[in-house]
Amino acid sequence: MRDRSTVIEMQLDGRTSRFILGPLAGLELPRYVAAPPPVYLVDRRVAELHREWLDGIQAGCPRDPLRVLVIEGGEGAKTPARLHQVWEWLAACRLTRDGTVVGIGGGAVLDLAGFAAATWNRGVGFVAIPTTLLAMVDAAIGGKTAVNAGGLKNPVGCFHPAVAVLADPCFLGTLSRRWWRDGMAELVKTAIIGEPRLWADLWGHRETLQRLLADGAADEPVGGVLGALPWRDWVGRAARVKADVVGRDFRESGPRRALNLGHTLGHVLEAWSARGERPLGHGEAVSVGMAVVVRVSAERGRCPLPLALQVIELLGCCGLPTSWPAPPREQLESLLLGDKKQSAGAGLRWVLPERIGRLDLDARIATDELLRWLD
Ligand SMILES: NC(=O)c1ccc[n+]([C@@H]2O[C@H](COP(=O)([O-])OP(=O)(O)OC[C@H]3O[C@@H](n4cnc5c(N)ncnc54)[C@H](O)[C@@H]3O)[C@@H](O)[C@H]2O)c1
Ligand SMILES: [Zn+2]
Repeated sequence: MRDRSTVIEMQLDGRTSRFILGPLAGLELPRYVAAPPPVYLVDRRVAELHREWLDGIQAGCPRDPLRVLVIEGGEGAKTPARLHQVWEWLAACRLTRDGTVVGIGGGAVLDLAGFAAATWNRGVGFVAIPTTLLAMVDAAIGGKTAVNAGGLKNPVGCFHPAVAVLADPCFLGTLSRRWWRDGMAELVKTAIIGEPRLWADLWGHRETLQRLLADGAADEPVGGVLGALPWRDWVGRAARVKADVVGRDFRESGPRRALNLGHTLGHVLEAWSARGERPLGHGEAVSVGMAVVVRVSAERGRCPLPLALQVIELLGCCGLPTSWPAPPREQLESLLLGDKKQSAGAGLRWVLPERIGRLDLDARIATDELLRWLD
């Protein structure tokens, strides 16, 4: 089984974390459960759409229905109320210090499951089984866990890497177009950060991406998508980039900031648009954020204009927006200052792409420069 899988080993916080990618990756679960049986926190959509597969994953470990909690996926999973519910459930399961929480779902359920695992008994084992593209290439890797509180995104969290991330691309077959697009924003981001071959491949497949992702209803699954494009290869390449970045800078003091490409403005637009009629999804907001910073970079002569135009075209082919109405200047500035990733007193540090694989991690951008590239 192993030889059909891609295995990426990371040392995070002095501990080994393995990313295993391939069909049936979930069957590796028993290897990573110290004291069986584990407890399973499962995204409801996944529980409904992939029942047989979940039965298969759980078959390797002794089964107990009490040890499975199915919860609604999406941001609603990351509330203090949900976290409390999970703690109550862990208490009912009598999960001991050597126990394991297995999170199965999108990034939201994994963030919740990881945080619950980090806080229960001061930290129990955690295994992540990501079921969305975004979770496979981003959320499940790197050990960040968080829940939302007080209207803010991710303020309550900690680092608690999964012992193993078991990624099976077959899950992606049921994903609706909206979530494919969201995941593509992070995949394109990762390619720009450090994967020239992935970049070239995505660019080369832009017409297929356009046909499958840009056209068609956002809330429908994308027929034939799994067979049409080399997802497994792409997910593996992107995961390797993220694993490499977080392995070098686990606590985000330096190189990990690269992963914020498009996110500084993205977070602001995500928060701002949430107050209006057409809220931007996270990936959509990051897409606009990336499009704006490549334009700024091209105008400064730091990034070749043809590359900037390619980035914008590729994002468009993935059905992602590349411009957006600007918030009023004062709102934009105050939202930017509220970005929690800013180090106090250091001013806002932006990530500007210069080439594929080369970034300025410490750029400054004036509000006027941003406004020029927003509608
Ligand atoms: N910890 C990190 O480092 C990190 C990094 C990036 C993002 N995140 C977090 O990840 C979250 C976003 O994750 P996401 O994009 O996976 O969204 P999500 O978890 O909200 O899932 C999106 C939707 O897809 C459904 N779904 C999940 N798997 C499915 C499948 N196989 N088929 C059909 N539907 C499925 C879910 O039920 C949900 O409705 C955000 O909360 C974000 O903060 C965390
Ligand atoms: Zn993101």
